[in-house]
Amino acid sequence: MMDLIKSPQSWALVLAVMIIYVCRRCYRRRTAKNSPPFPTPASKQQPVFSEDAYYQIEPLSSFDLANEEPIKIRPFKPTYHLTMAIENITINELVTMDKTYPDRIALRKTLYAEKGDDVLAINEIAAPAVIELYTYLTTTYLPTRFPTIYSPTPTGLLNNITRETLSLHPTSGASALQTLGEWIDLDLLLLLPIQVPGPDQGKYRLEAFNTCFPSGFNTRSKLGLKLADIHTPVPSYAAKLGKSMDRFFASVPVGKLVKRHNWSITTNSVLFNLSGNHMSEDEVTAKAESWDDVDLTQTVLRCERQTLHRLPKTGAILFAFKTYQYPIRDLRDEGSGEELAAAIDGLGMGNAPGMMVYKRQVVWGEKVKAFLRGEIGLDGCAIGSEER
Ligand SMILES: *[C@@H]1O[C@H](CO)[C@@H](O)[C@H](O)[C@H]1NC(C)=O
Ligand SMILES: *[C@@H]1O[C@H](CO)[C@@H](O)[C@H](O)[C@H]1NC(C)=O
Ligand SMILES: *[C@@H]1O[C@H](CO)[C@@H](O)[C@H](O)[C@H]1NC(C)=O
Ligand SMILES: *[C@@H]1O[C@H](CO)[C@@H](O)[C@H](O)[C@H]1NC(C)=O
Repeated sequence: MMDLIKSPQSWALVLAVMIIYVCRRCYRRRTAKNSPPFPTPASKQQPVFSEDAYYQIEPLSSFDLANEEPIKIRPFKPTYHLTMAIENITINELVTMDKTYPDRIALRKTLYAEKGDDVLAINEIAAPAVIELYTYLTTTYLPTRFPTIYSPTPTGLLNNITRETLSLHPTSGASALQTLGEWIDLDLLLLLPIQVPGPDQGKYRLEAFNTCFPSGFNTRSKLGLKLADIHTPVPSYAAKLGKSMDRFFASVPVGKLVKRHNWSITTNSVLFNLSGNHMSEDEVTAKAESWDDVDLTQTVLRCERQTLHRLPKTGAILFAFKTYQYPIRDLRDEGSGEELAAAIDGLGMGNAPGMMVYKRQVVWGEKVKAFLRGEIGLDGCAIGSEER
């Protein structure tokens, strides 16, 4: 070993490697600094993403929470195709707030107290990512975007709705994650790449979650799992989506944010539901719910508004979602009935026909469609022709 280091050739080699390394670092720094704040014609095909995107926050200076209606998401299509279906967004769209906030926050607090690690758990490896997210949201994003709700004080951040003041120095990853869930109505999942060399290196694994409103899945059972394993129950996931999801997670640059929506019909409006909103082929015959068991007054269109982006310092991926529920009566009354009824039929017609069973359409489908098409009322009774 000593002989090797003494030989002039090896010194030359070491020197060359060092020079290359230093030059590359300088070059990277410079290109990062010089990246234009606005896309220039040359960068149109090859968009430049940078951390700056997370600081270009437009304040909602006169945001009035009490009068802000929830966003209306109507993501259904005549034919259900399982695709990523992502849209580009800016950082402004990371958190959405509306008048349901006080109730949702109160419910979230009860769930943390009662459900423990069914709603929140963290592997220590994810603590730095959680702290990074916490610091960004509490010192930068929330007070800038929603100044009528969150204001900085000498000791922390004041929430003008709950009148609580939040410390800017969380004591642990778990407490930071819980506080975020008590301050914003957003479910959070953090994923990190596997570092150990081997076939799974670079694949993303769920390392922390705060999910108060799971629609029929138990996030705790997915902690530590890779994307593909998290999605095992989703019909056609592996065939249609698995590879592109893995690629997307690995390559999404800092500064790029995307969103997507999904939807389902649930025959209860319970927000926290660990199991039951989904079904497997085996259960269809075993559990035939009758027409009468579907209570239309409790039936809702349930949508998740999901966003995804990379945290700049730890490189973790944050997958966040907010849950919306719309009584099916609203859909009929606004005139979307026929369109939603068609989409319900379309669940089994796309590239993932298993969705028909998975979303339990076989249980609620006929009755919900009859309602949406104006054939029956909320009570399930036929509407006479004179009333139509
Ligand atoms: C979203 O951004 C990507 C670049 O990351 C671009 O290729 C794509 O066309 C954009 N999508 C839309 C719908 O604008
Ligand atoms: C806090 O809320 C009250 C009432 O909702 C409002 O009048 C006041 O302007 C808010 N404070 C800030 C700092 O926006
Ligand atoms: C939305 O998709 C997620 C998986 O990405 C699934 O766990 C969830 O149950 C879906 N929610 C609805 C309302 O369909
Ligand atoms: C969850 O959803 C299923 C199916 O819709 C329902 O049977 C079950 O009662 C729900 N669980 C809770 C806790 O409400």
